[in-house]
Amino acid sequence: MNNILVIHGPNLNLLGTREPEVYGAQTLSDINTRLQIVAGEIGVRITAFQSNHEGEIVEAIHKARFQSDASYDAIIINPAAFTHTSVAIRDALAGVGLPFVEVHLSNVHKREAFRHHSYFSDLAVGVVCGLGAYGYEAALRFLTQKSSKLG
Ligand code: DQA
Repeated sequence: MNNILVIHGPNLNLLGTREPEVYGAQTLSDINTRLQIVAGEIGVRITAFQSNHEGEIVEAIHKARFQSDASYDAIIINPAAFTHTSVAIRDALAGVGLPFVEVHLSNVHKREAFRHHSYFSDLAVGVVCGLGAYGYEAALRFLTQKSSKLG
């Protein structure tokens, strides 16, 4: 796992000012900067991408596997609201077959019932939720440990 794509879904560009009591005070740029530092320490490459558009996320996933010079080994994705709605993004992840970790800043299971279902979790290597920005770092550390297997 040397090259990881980090995908942030809709409204995550508003982090820092968006419902800070739910999502924390860090901006997306803070989160990406921290991830770059951790990636540098571990010795892996990460590329972060944010979009508010479902189709752009689908295309980024396709490129990660089929058109990228970089050839990504894994994906860390916070699909945000698309978690609960998007068969298209689910199918893209299934279609490219790259291992991915699903991340949510908030504990979606403590929130409204419509946030309890994810179109991604049954395909994911793992799901991190409720750990705030640290969830991304946890996902990165997990995927880049020698063998990203459990146990
Ligand atoms: C989120 C949780 C989703 O339910 C919500 O729509 C988001 C962010 C999270 O990171 O906690 O936009 O994915």
